[in-house]
This record gives sequence, C-alpha cells and structure tokens, in this order.
Amino acid sequence: MALIPGDGAGPEVMAEARPLLDWARARGRHLEAIPMPYGAEHFLATGETLSEAAYADLRDGFDAILFGAVGDPRVPDGRHAEAILLRLRQGLELTINFRPCRPLPGTGPEGLHLEVFRENTEGAYCLQGSTEPGRAVDLAVHTEVAVGRLLEAAFVRAAHRGCTLTLAHKANVLKHGHGLWVRLFQELQAKHPEVSARAMHADALLCALVQDPGSFGVIAADNYLGDLISDLTAAFAGGMGTAPSLSWAPHRPFRCALLAEPVHGSAPDIAGKNLANPVGMILSTALLFRHLGWEAEAEAVETAVSGALADGAKTRDLGGTLGTSAMGRAIRDRLS
Ligand code: IPM
Ligand code: MG
Repeated sequence: MALIPGDGAGPEVMAEARPLLDWARARGRHLEAIPMPYGAEHFLATGETLSEAAYADLRDGFDAILFGAVGDPRVPDGRHAEAILLRLRQGLELTINFRPCRPLPGTGPEGLHLEVFRENTEGAYCLQGSTEPGRAVDLAVHTEVAVGRLLEAAFVRAAHRGCTLTLAHKANVLKHGHGLWVRLFQELQAKHPEVSARAMHADALLCALVQDPGSFGVIAADNYLGDLISDLTAAFAGGMGTAPSLSWAPHRPFRCALLAEPVHGSAPDIAGKNLANPVGMILSTALLFRHLGWEAEAEAVETAVSGALADGAKTRDLGGTLGTSAMGRAIRDRLS
C-alpha cells in the first residue's frame, strides 16, 4: 500500500490513520505501507509533480493508495494537484468514487444512510478545453463504458441495500452528455426491476435532498454533480471533516485499483495547527479495509469512531476541544 499524505492538513490526518495499518498488521493482515513524498513541497523542491516513472510504480507496484489531500497556496494554479490526484483517478481508471454519509453520534439525523456514487474519471473533469480571446471552453466527455460501469455499480449497491437509487442529471439542458446518462440508466432499470430507481433533474434533487434526506438511498451522478452533491451530503454528518471516500476500478485494469481519501481538501487555513479532524481520513481507511475483505477491521474502526464521538471526543469543527492527534488517540484507544 502506498501512502501519499500530500499537503496542508493531509500529513496530519494521515499520521492518525497510519497506526491503524500497524494495528491491522498486528491482527494478521498482510500489508506493507510505503510513504511517498508527492505534493507541493516535493514539487517546489524538485519541479516534479508525479513523474511517469512514479506513476507507473504506483500503478504496477501497489494494490492500493491511501491519500491525504493536495492543494497549497504556494502553487496557485493547483497544477500539482491536477497532476497527482486527477492523474491517479483518471490514469488508474478509478471510475467509481463512493462517498457514504452516515451521521455519527451528535453529528446529524440518526439512521440516515446516503451513498453517493460519483463518476470519477471524466465528464467536466476531463481537462479538455481552451481559453481564447473573449471566451473559454471546458469540454465534458461522457463515455458509455465509464458511465455504464458507474451506474451498474450503483444499481448493484441499491439492490444489495434494498434502498432507492436516484440519478442526478440535467438532461433537459445537457442533452448529449446527460442524455447518455439517462439512456443508460433506463436500460439498467429494465435489467434491475428489483431496484426502485428514478432519474431526477439535479436542481430539483438538491431541494428534495435538503428537505427530506431520508427519502434517498443511493445517488448516482457524473463527476461534477457528484462533487457538489457529496459536499452537501457531508453537511448532514458533521461537515467536511468527517466524510470518507473510496475510489476503485471495478474492471481492475491495473494492479493498483483502489484509492482511499477523505472528501476534505488540504485546508491551508488550519493546516499545521493540530486542528484538522482526522475522522474523514480514518473512516476512509475503514472503507479501504472493507474493500480488501477485512470486514472485522473495518467494523472495528467504524465502531471505535462512533464510540469516541458518543463519549464526547470531538475536534473543534464538531464543537469539541480536541486536537487532531488527541482525536486520533481517542479513537485508537477503543480498538482492542
Ligand atoms: C474532491 C475535490 C477534488 C475534486 C479537487 C481537489 C480536484 O473537490 O475530491 O471532491 O473536485 O474532485
Ligand atoms: Mg470536492
């Protein structure tokens, strides 16, 4: 497993996830954690974001990546973030970005269980476009292969949970791209009659989501809408500090087919002050454990997080007083 702590608060929250890897190893799980320097510091010192050789090493030499965050005010155009994080998501074909929202004790409505399936490699984030005199163009590319893969995973998940599946789209305006999404969604609806599925205009969906979050189960969306919707769902569970995510390539084109990262960014305003909430990073590590088939470890970590919060252990973003490291310790203290 490769560890990329990255920038800002990334290394601080990674430092709280790392002992969980040692704990899993002590329980007999086979894993080796190798830290990698990629991020702003490395870029500013060497001029290198993620070289082709470094990318190939991650792709072929590791099974999974645990990622902190990238983004640094010293690199104003965010060039290294694009060259590292988007490169990994797109290069490794990590089509599925899974962002669950389950409020922890004291952070939101009890029993709420939303899951966003965000397409992670294309759409408006395909990095194609141009700035011309007097106008600017960003292309959004949607392929049947990636959209089909994302939707299939969302249908299978909704069937497994026995919950509703909602597609977020704007096919009334984005006739081509989102038209493709709606067409593939309808084809899969016919294949999965057991799933209660509906396609909704994303604007109406957002209103309904705020008014009645409990009426949603799994939400499928393209890269751009999924990015926005998953920040909104994070707000139901305490905000950005607690939201986890896991990306994977269901078709396993390369050895490395998994990347776990918190939904939050590098938070330069609070970075280095021991203020960041490590819960999003720690819950992302639990998602990674589960995907590796380590269900007992995933559960134990999630239970430790809920238990710590139920006992009042909280960072400042949740109204508590604990720093990053004390919060990490409060969680680890509950693991046997
Ligand atoms: C996220 C982030 C990223 C994204 C940024 C940092 C490129 O907002 O993971 O949601 O937009 O995908
Ligand atoms: Mg985002």
